[in-house]
Amino acid sequence: MLEKILQKLKSRLGMFLAVLLSIILFSISQALSQQPVVLNMLITALDAPPWKQGIIKDFETKNPGIRINLIEGPNAANLLEDLYTSAFILGDSPYDLVNMDVIWTPKFAAAGWLLDLGDRLTKEELAAFSPKDVEGGRYEGKLYRIPMRSDVGVFYYREDLLKQAGYQPPDTFGDLLKISKSLKEQGKINWGYVWQGRQYEGLAAMFVEVLEGFGGFWVNPATLEVGLDKPETLKAIAFLKDTIQEGISPGGVTTYQEEETRRFFQSGEAAFLRSWPYVWPLANSEDSPIKGKIGIKPMLSTPGNSGGACLGGWGLGIAKSSKHPKEAWKAIQYFTSEQAQRQFILDAGFVPSRRSLFTDPKIVSKYPHYPKLLEIVDRAVLRPPIAQYAQTSDILQRYLSAALTNRMTPETAMQAAASETRRLLAGGK
Ligand code: GLC
Repeated sequence: MLEKILQKLKSRLGMFLAVLLSIILFSISQALSQQPVVLNMLITALDAPPWKQGIIKDFETKNPGIRINLIEGPNAANLLEDLYTSAFILGDSPYDLVNMDVIWTPKFAAAGWLLDLGDRLTKEELAAFSPKDVEGGRYEGKLYRIPMRSDVGVFYYREDLLKQAGYQPPDTFGDLLKISKSLKEQGKINWGYVWQGRQYEGLAAMFVEVLEGFGGFWVNPATLEVGLDKPETLKAIAFLKDTIQEGISPGGVTTYQEEETRRFFQSGEAAFLRSWPYVWPLANSEDSPIKGKIGIKPMLSTPGNSGGACLGGWGLGIAKSSKHPKEAWKAIQYFTSEQAQRQFILDAGFVPSRRSLFTDPKIVSKYPHYPKLLEIVDRAVLRPPIAQYAQTSDILQRYLSAALTNRMTPETAMQAAASETRRLLAGGK
């Protein structure tokens, strides 16, 4: 156990040192050649290409005195958060711009790592963004993060296969199991459903949706009540376990992050997928075996409950320790502008945080499903917006993973998860 923790710490430290070294080398080369102000920002490697291809170049052309140094980090959001957190805790953080997942603001703001940006945008300017994305950037009434892009969990299905077999896309988890079985029996597909089951933040994002679909809840942010040991939670886990036990999902799903599930679905191996909208342009790319064969819909539920789509998304803040807050604000203004967002979305298929872009003619002609996506965003469910979110999520990830991989019974795992969460939240009151 101790060895494992040491190993984990070593690999985190290694990652942190590598990132730090690349920043130091970059800063030295900049200083030697007396280059313009450099703004450092850390991002998941998965999200980097559309930044590098377009909007950073545009920004730098328009602002020759500023350069953006994009540092590519691990793809799991929680690992990225660990890197930002260790940099801030160690002091003298190298980051100017803070590229934040929707669930980080309360923690980063409570720790005092961010500048308050509340007075920089008028009410009208803020009203152009989806309210839930803006909410994700507030903490105790102040605004620390401007939404750069939204994100929302969606259910993908193979339209071609369903048509051939005479099925409508499923509405309920029960339909999903039934249709998957039948498609498999007919030899139309090898697997039914793929979802993110690895122990990481994506597991929590996927699970809040299933939980909502079963009428359960994780933590009520207003009362801090914990719902993990309620019968609805156990039913949600039973459904996920059924998908594996009944051969509808491959056993490997409990080790999959977003990219493993996308590749699986895109190779034509599965009929259904839970993921984020970034999958759409990739699955419809020229060399994709499922190009033109997929549809999306909101996440499923049980009869009588509404399906929940998890609200994800990324926004930009300014590190309090930054020596270049003025330049950082310029960058935020540009990256969250309508023009930059339009280009970013056309490149990457991400979800806009600006409402007008969901029906923007250029965007809709490339992504006809965007007006529908706005409906899904408006109904999205938040992971609990509380300052202790990172620890709360870590508890859920550990015990849920133990239940899904049969290391603990769901009952024991969720009782432990619920009481650990209650202890944590009581301590933080
Ligand atoms: C996506 C979402 C983010 C979420 C992450 C989980 O990047 O935008 O909110 O935490 O996936 O893997």
